[in-house]
Amino acid sequence: MSTIVELSLPNGHKYEQPVGLFIDNQFVKSSSGKTFETIDPSTEEKIVDLYEADADDVDIAVKAARAAFEGEWSQYAAEKRGMIMSEFVRLVEEIRPTLAAVESWDSGKPYSKTLYGDVSELVGTFRYYAGWADKVFGRTIETDKNKLAYTMHQPIGVCGQIIPWNFPLSMWAWKVAPAVATGCTVVIKTAEQTPLSALFLGPLIKKAGFPPGVINIISGFGKTAGAALASHLDVDKIAFTGSTATGRNIMKMASVNLKAITLECGGKSPLIVCADANIDKAVQAGHSGIMYNAGQVCTATSRIFVHEDVYDKYVDGFKQRIKDVSKVGHPFEKATSQGPQVSKTQRERVLGFIEEGKKAGAKVAAGGNSTGDKGYYIEPTVFTDAEDASTIMQDEIFGPVASIAKFSDYDDAVRRANNTSYGLAAAVFTQNITRGHRIAEKLQVGMVWINSNQDSHYGIPFGGWKSSGIGRELGEYGLNNYTNVKAVHVNLEE
Ligand code: NAI
Ligand code: MG
Repeated sequence: MSTIVELSLPNGHKYEQPVGLFIDNQFVKSSSGKTFETIDPSTEEKIVDLYEADADDVDIAVKAARAAFEGEWSQYAAEKRGMIMSEFVRLVEEIRPTLAAVESWDSGKPYSKTLYGDVSELVGTFRYYAGWADKVFGRTIETDKNKLAYTMHQPIGVCGQIIPWNFPLSMWAWKVAPAVATGCTVVIKTAEQTPLSALFLGPLIKKAGFPPGVINIISGFGKTAGAALASHLDVDKIAFTGSTATGRNIMKMASVNLKAITLECGGKSPLIVCADANIDKAVQAGHSGIMYNAGQVCTATSRIFVHEDVYDKYVDGFKQRIKDVSKVGHPFEKATSQGPQVSKTQRERVLGFIEEGKKAGAKVAAGGNSTGDKGYYIEPTVFTDAEDASTIMQDEIFGPVASIAKFSDYDDAVRRANNTSYGLAAAVFTQNITRGHRIAEKLQVGMVWINSNQDSHYGIPFGGWKSSGIGRELGEYGLNNYTNVKAVHVNLEE
């Protein structure tokens, strides 16, 4: 099998899809010759076979990344790294429609969202960190007249990065951009469900001027390629986004050489709707906060706590909103707002949670079933009257499934909102500015939205408390993950 094949997108457009591993700026076969297939979740049919990396390929990729780190990349003037990143952004803009279509095909996301959402996030994140490349520096520290002390922020080295399937391009950018901006080199493993879009970037990486080995992209599975990367002794840092269970595993594996780690894991984020909220806006934000990307969003506000005075109005509004704007359908249909779940496994998982909710006595206010003759589609679903301690109120469902609950006291609402093992994000809707800030202060989460939901920006730190993760990505904070601090003490005594 060749490492690049011609494919025909669902919109009829023909293009060249790389299916090899991208190591040292070239597409290569896996050393075992093993391949695996990726599926179109809207038809359940195979798109293409790809070469599958295992531990040997991870080793080859890490060697390439090490050589590149010790070679020119970390020695380049920082401005030059920024310029190469900017050139990469320009090249991505040129292929935007094809890149978005590849992403939609492989993941099932609506094309309108990948075109304006995912690709824009990739472009914006790279542009943002290209600007940071020559603005990373240490400090001098005043102590004694006879002493000069200063810090250097030096690139941490070879970075292993493991990303999920829910935002393949955005997650790729969040991981790769800050690493290469600071002078690190990377081996990034994409999710086995969505390997195509990242490989499609390979030729642009080379064309933009990244030296061979700076960005290596491998396709493969978690238990083999992912584990090999997390436990590799010559990898200095591991960054991961995915489930909390896998995050725990990675933390253990990374301990072999005390790798620096960042983990972005699961969530069960609350939305608190106060009695004085603008209900229309709170309904819109509640709906998009759980239905966007078919609920496959780590920060999705899956638990909605509504004050008793506005509860009935809110639930009715939410059901109406689903009727008005939720259009479940093929990712390439213009009207579609919600595509299929990414895989059969994920659909079964989500349906399992829905059944569990029904059995536990929660009421189905909308949806509650799979839909369509083929493709992994699930109806937008709303539960009410679920117990706080029940599975659907505690576990990350990762599907288009909201639970709406009633509260009467604000302190109690905050206590219930905090009552999960997760602590990723939370939203609050209120017209009372003091109440909004007070509630934000008490929520045990990494991000709070007041009168908005799911608002993310590459300039603002992203990450969770408790079992939602370790460390922050994005913004200036995100750079710290990729540098080592060195303190230099100089004796000036004569
Ligand atoms: P996962 O966490 O197992 O997979 C995410 C990435 O980790 C993939 O690239 C996978 O190949 C890799 N991986 C898996 N096992 C590994 C291991 N032992 N060592 C190294 N890498 C490994 O998530 P999965 O199974 O795809 O989805 C299960 C659940 O995880 C979802 O239902 C959802 O609740 C949660 N999830 C959360 C995400 C988030 O954005 N926080 C993203 C994806 C899934
Ligand atoms: Mg796929």
